[in-house]
Amino acid sequence: MNGTCMAVSPLQTLITLVTSLINTQTPEDLNSPLQLLNGATFDFIIVGGGSAGCVLANRLSEIQNWSILLLEAGGEEPFEADVPGFLGYSYDTRMNWQFETVPEEIICGGKSCPVVRGKGLGGSSDINAMLYVRGNKLDYDNWAHLGNTGWDFKNVLPYFKKSENNLDPDISKDTKYHSTGGYLSVGRFPYQDTAVQNLSAAFNEIGFKYVDFNAEKQTGIMISQVTQENGERFSSNRAFLKPIRKRQNIKVVTNIRITKILIEPKTKTAYGIEYVGEKNQKIHNKVYASKEVILSSGAVGSPVLLMRSGIGPKDVLDVLGIKAIKYLDVGRNLQDHATVPGSYYMIRKYEDTQVTNLLMNSILYSRPKRQGPWSATGTTQVVAFAKTKYASQNIDYPDIGIYFLIDAASKENELNKLNFIPTVLRPKSRGKITINSTDPFSPPLIYPNYFSHPYDIKVHLESYKIAEELANTTSFKLANYKLNVSALPTEEYFKTGNNSEWRDLANFRLFSIFHLSGTCKMGPSNDTSAVVDPTLKVHGVKQLRVIDASIMPHLVSGNINAPTMMIAEKGADMIKKFWIKTFKK
Ligand SMILES: Cc1cc2nc3c(=O)[nH]c(=O)nc-3n(C[C@H](O)[C@H](O)[C@H](O)COP(=O)(O)OP(=O)(O)OC[C@H]3O[C@@H](n4cnc5c(N)ncnc54)[C@H](O)[C@@H]3O)c2cc1C
Ligand SMILES: *[C@@H]1O[C@H](CO)[C@@H](O)[C@H](O)[C@H]1NC(C)=O
Ligand SMILES: *[C@@H]1O[C@H](CO)[C@@H](O)[C@H](O)[C@H]1NC(C)=O
Ligand SMILES: *[C@@H]1O[C@H](CO)[C@@H](O)[C@H](O)[C@H]1NC(C)=O
Ligand SMILES: *[C@@H]1O[C@H](CO)[C@@H](O)[C@H](O)[C@H]1NC(C)=O
Ligand SMILES: *[C@@H]1O[C@H](CO)[C@@H](O)[C@H](O)[C@H]1NC(C)=O
Ligand SMILES: *[C@@H]1O[C@H](CO)[C@@H](O)[C@H](O)[C@H]1NC(C)=O
Ligand SMILES: *[C@@H]1O[C@H](CO)[C@@H](O)[C@H](O)[C@H]1NC(C)=O
Repeated sequence: MNGTCMAVSPLQTLITLVTSLINTQTPEDLNSPLQLLNGATFDFIIVGGGSAGCVLANRLSEIQNWSILLLEAGGEEPFEADVPGFLGYSYDTRMNWQFETVPEEIICGGKSCPVVRGKGLGGSSDINAMLYVRGNKLDYDNWAHLGNTGWDFKNVLPYFKKSENNLDPDISKDTKYHSTGGYLSVGRFPYQDTAVQNLSAAFNEIGFKYVDFNAEKQTGIMISQVTQENGERFSSNRAFLKPIRKRQNIKVVTNIRITKILIEPKTKTAYGIEYVGEKNQKIHNKVYASKEVILSSGAVGSPVLLMRSGIGPKDVLDVLGIKAIKYLDVGRNLQDHATVPGSYYMIRKYEDTQVTNLLMNSILYSRPKRQGPWSATGTTQVVAFAKTKYASQNIDYPDIGIYFLIDAASKENELNKLNFIPTVLRPKSRGKITINSTDPFSPPLIYPNYFSHPYDIKVHLESYKIAEELANTTSFKLANYKLNVSALPTEEYFKTGNNSEWRDLANFRLFSIFHLSGTCKMGPSNDTSAVVDPTLKVHGVKQLRVIDASIMPHLVSGNINAPTMMIAEKGADMIKKFWIKTFKK
């Protein structure tokens, strides 16, 4: 969620110091493999080593006589990414692409807002809040209903389970929904502070049932399972790539920027990629794929790369003079889980003092058994799914997700702020991502268009009733958590986006929980807005797939790391089925 909210400055100094001591590699060392790559041929090239890319690299290299090349613009996942308590620290580092939105009138007070995107092996799963959430069954049934055969819940559940190594016996005993023994460790954090306990109890008081929202029922409250084991982050790199790095048929290259997909214009067949060194742009070469090029560059990276390669909307390609391979609605249909800052409880005591107890916390976190505040992400582990009055009351299909994040007390603020962060789960607003330059290092133009649809505003505003109900609970009253009612966003906020408090807030950045998706929409061939078909192949182009969060036709009702890994698991099986006639999953 938001970096500036976590006042970690002494910690940050320490981490920066340690990292600079350890990181002795020079750019030249890192780039030498790039020269060797020039002109080589692999069966599959995977562009982007993020949540999806690492899963694909693992599953495709299971076929021993296939050669796999995984390419990643960032570096190796640094050791400090392991520590859950450092959440937010990485946003100001090389682990984040540090994109920004194009300023829009309503959000961000007319200024640009940061768009956090992970960079490095593991991608956004290196820096995310680690919540393991699958969304709602009906989300997938609806994907299938749009013509995406095979994507209904019944058909995707086995792929969630295939990844999973569930560590909590009370959850894993439900074998209809969970499994053990997969690459991805999932379990509750070893540490829950009192705010976590009190929040969970307060929800229960106002009628929220304790649920496993990844099983039978989603509506309710849960101290969430997260992608972790023994208090260490399980990014997709840690889970899927690290254990198989030694396989002979896989080559992983970091610090490489893919600038273009090579596509034969007559047959419209992808046959390789062009790249430059991320740190040495004088290196400018090509590498070839005999079977497929797979884009796993994320909801920002994948559409941008398609457009630069001649696959995109006519108006974008023509204006920039990019030779068109295929006109498709690339970059449209952008969806995200947005919020607005302002609703918070004031809490006096908060024992999860990441700043003041540096020594104590590092001792608690030391091996072998990692414990204490650093082994968790504070209140971020509490997640509720709720139905406002606008949701259908007789089905289990919540319309609001509620998250929490602490702003530690500071010189300016005597009290800690416990932020109440509601997001409309299935927003109706649609944004877009586009480019206005052919220079591969020019930033993408991101127009989120948040709250442009009245439904999103209506549901969002209604969710603050829950904030008020929580304030009325015995749990909150005894713990002395007081809602600042005068800070609750009003309709006026959304209409003008121009509230003086918003404009002046240093912490104004809390507006997205960064679930960007939908920009290479999956849909059948009669869906004119679709970019990939239900087997994730780009419409009208051969040997080119997109496999990452960008293919979601519409956002699922929850966080999207686990769904993205599921998409990659299913994608890998579809690739195997396509190339190996005898393949059975
Ligand atoms: C701050 C934050 C918190 C989040 N919290 C949660 C959470 O708690 N739970 C949850 O489920 N989800 C969370 N998410 C969302 C989730 O992590 C992402 O949606 C998911 O990781 C996206 O996976 P992906 O494979 O589509 O893209 P990514 O994981 O972003 O991977 C894309 C990769 O491609 C690389 N790449 C891009 N372009 C190029 C290029 N031209 N050449 C070479 N490489 C390239 C990138 O460097 C990156 O490594 C969070 C996201 C953020 C940013
Ligand atoms: C891999 O091996 C199998 C079985 O030996 C064979 O059928 C297949 O054609 C081979 N694939 C490649 C890419 O060589
Ligand atoms: C592209 O858009 C950005 C942001 O709006 C702008 O600053 C830049 O000048 C534009 N570049 C071109 C080449 O139009
Ligand atoms: C909270 O309690 C106050 C005072 O008892 C009451 O006026 C108010 O309606 C309650 N609000 C909610 C949302 O329950
Ligand atoms: C808050 O949580 C702590 C730790 O579980 C517990 O001891 C305390 O009773 C809780 N307070 C309230 C008001 O629920
Ligand atoms: C409550 O919110 C109002 C309006 O944003 C603000 O002026 C006030 O300082 C806040 N009070 C506290 C105690 O934080
Ligand atoms: C925002 O408010 C300021 C001061 O109240 C005003 O000058 C400005 O025109 C407003 N901008 C918008 C976009 O409403
Ligand atoms: C596409 O065709 C399917 C049947 O093949 C149909 O159910 C669906 O409504 C069509 N979609 C569009 C957008 O025309």
